[in-house]
Amino acid sequence: MSIESVLQENRVFAPPEGFAARAHIKSLAEYRKLYAEAERDPDAYWAARANEELHWQTPFTKVSEWQAPHAKWFLGGKTNLSYNCLDRHLEKRGDHLALRFEGEPKDSLTLTYRELHARVCRLANALKALGVKPGDRVGIYLPMTSEAVIAMLACARIGAVHSVVFGGFSAEALRDRMADAGAKVLLTADGGWRKGGVVPLLENVRAAVAAGIPSLQKVVVAQRTGVSLELKGNEVGWNALCEKQPATCEPEWVDSEHPLFILYTSGSTGKPKGVLHTTAGYGMWASLTSRWVFDLRHDDVYWCTADVGWVTGHSYVVYGPLMNGVTVVMYEGAPTTPGPDRFWDIIERHRVTILYTAPTAIRAFMRLGDEHVKKHDLRSLRLLGSVGEPINPEAWMWYRDVVGGGRCPVVDTWWQTETGGILVTPLPGATPTKPGSATLPLPGIHPAVLDDHGQKVEQGGGKLFVVKPWPSMLRTIWGDDARFKTTYFSEREGLYFTGDGARVDADGYLWLMGRVDDVVNVAGHRLGTAEVESALVSEGRVAEAAVVGRPDDLKGTALVAFVTLKAGVEAGDEMKAALLKHVGKEIGAIARPDEIRFASALPKTRSGKIMRRLLRDVAAGKDSKQDTTTLEDLSVLAALRNDEE
Ligand code: WTA
Repeated sequence: MSIESVLQENRVFAPPEGFAARAHIKSLAEYRKLYAEAERDPDAYWAARANEELHWQTPFTKVSEWQAPHAKWFLGGKTNLSYNCLDRHLEKRGDHLALRFEGEPKDSLTLTYRELHARVCRLANALKALGVKPGDRVGIYLPMTSEAVIAMLACARIGAVHSVVFGGFSAEALRDRMADAGAKVLLTADGGWRKGGVVPLLENVRAAVAAGIPSLQKVVVAQRTGVSLELKGNEVGWNALCEKQPATCEPEWVDSEHPLFILYTSGSTGKPKGVLHTTAGYGMWASLTSRWVFDLRHDDVYWCTADVGWVTGHSYVVYGPLMNGVTVVMYEGAPTTPGPDRFWDIIERHRVTILYTAPTAIRAFMRLGDEHVKKHDLRSLRLLGSVGEPINPEAWMWYRDVVGGGRCPVVDTWWQTETGGILVTPLPGATPTKPGSATLPLPGIHPAVLDDHGQKVEQGGGKLFVVKPWPSMLRTIWGDDARFKTTYFSEREGLYFTGDGARVDADGYLWLMGRVDDVVNVAGHRLGTAEVESALVSEGRVAEAAVVGRPDDLKGTALVAFVTLKAGVEAGDEMKAALLKHVGKEIGAIARPDEIRFASALPKTRSGKIMRRLLRDVAAGKDSKQDTTTLEDLSVLAALRNDEE
């Protein structure tokens, strides 16, 4: 049975005229032409793009090789992504600002491309002095400070493979990842600022090291919070190490397929997977998609709020924007510290032109109220982006109207750690948008919605696959190629399975419906829980909703909704009745939750995704045995459980 879609959304927004006229891709016709070109002769298309995006020290001799599930791109070529991010800009635009960093305590640092280049080179030389060779793994466990960017680019410069671990992860999670990657050196800091307190990074590193990372030889410690820094054992100070190093470093010209980074991502079961990306294919796609999707030009002040510990931070804080020579804003801390308007304050003071953030943040701001946004002059903004989860139409509309003043195109970008870069998205000057839809695939990308028999669904719901290889696809899972095959290429032999459910509408637009694990079968109807959530949020008084299934004798599965309300709204039977009625009206009786539970917050991963698998256990009254290493706030879960008692 295919997945039924029940969401009704009829609003369409054309790209703003003035925007389209100046955009890199100016019309739907232009997009369609590129799409057709890529389809007709993929190798010629990709070769042209790779030559435009990257500096090639040695040109590639073959465009691609595909022996499912293994891909190789731009074979025989040599390049270096640190060179592409930095050196390429030095001659003409070396004094242009590369980074505008703002710490949570409001300290700041700006670095021009020239200054960033010098810092990267010093660290690259220092890593070499520590014995790091091309192909060696280097761990990065840093706050969102300039050091994180410098660390990644220094690794890329010498051909070392970086593996960034999000600073919010525990010592145990850090140990597992570093041991799996076989990291030789770990770059960290004394701590980072979050919600007015210090995240004890060095303490966590010490606990991780004590638990055992056999490959680890050195820990390099940057000073951030000024907590007392008595280095011990194999620890060395970042500044002391870099000071003595020269400010230039010849880049290591690596093969296109040389590994660039390993990034761990958690699956719904089992230990985290080390997603491996290589150099040229990943780099050309990060660069190209940044320019097309965010319509980047040199004078943009671009802010992607993701942490470098996630793939969004890799592709769209560091590699993509820097290859395009723009000014990147980086913010260290929490979105509501010291007040609910910190984001808007940052946008106003730095004159941010492009904002790329996550639905979870957008919904949180919606809940806090419009007044915090309206207090600030946000007229510098010209484009808004969203990533990480399906964005509910109501949140999309709020983002567009309240944050974007109704004048900025909104790009809802669908992609994954595994895809390396954005695959499905509107192009802001070309694609008419529909709130809640990631719209159409980029040229060269071939997604397909398939039913359970593997038949292509022309209109309707099913599982989302990508049926042709693309340059920035993951190459394998580090150390576990068998798991790579079973996870991504066994659902349908040879086709990349995304794990997501999606619907295609009459215009061929894609509507992402969440992970297929989040699809429930209610009385014979397979519903995407994301759609029921959208219906709940559209009632107007709901801030956020998560809907999960609970085993039910009668219906197979019953729907349980966890709902947080906007500030000042009262929970109670009257509210429950209103919500049931509303969902009945929006979707139909079939989607009316069997149970509604009000909560003050929902459990989330640190990257903001609602942890539905935990909610499923709560709904079923089970004690969760699930891995909670990525859970942001365990107290939220405890509160949900107590509610029952
Ligand atoms: C979800 C983040 C709907 C999806 C870049 C995907 C989305 C998973 C969207 C990957 C979107 C991401 N609309 N769902 N625009 N973007 N997702 O690896 O379920 O952290 O498979 O990569 O997030 O999450 P990841």
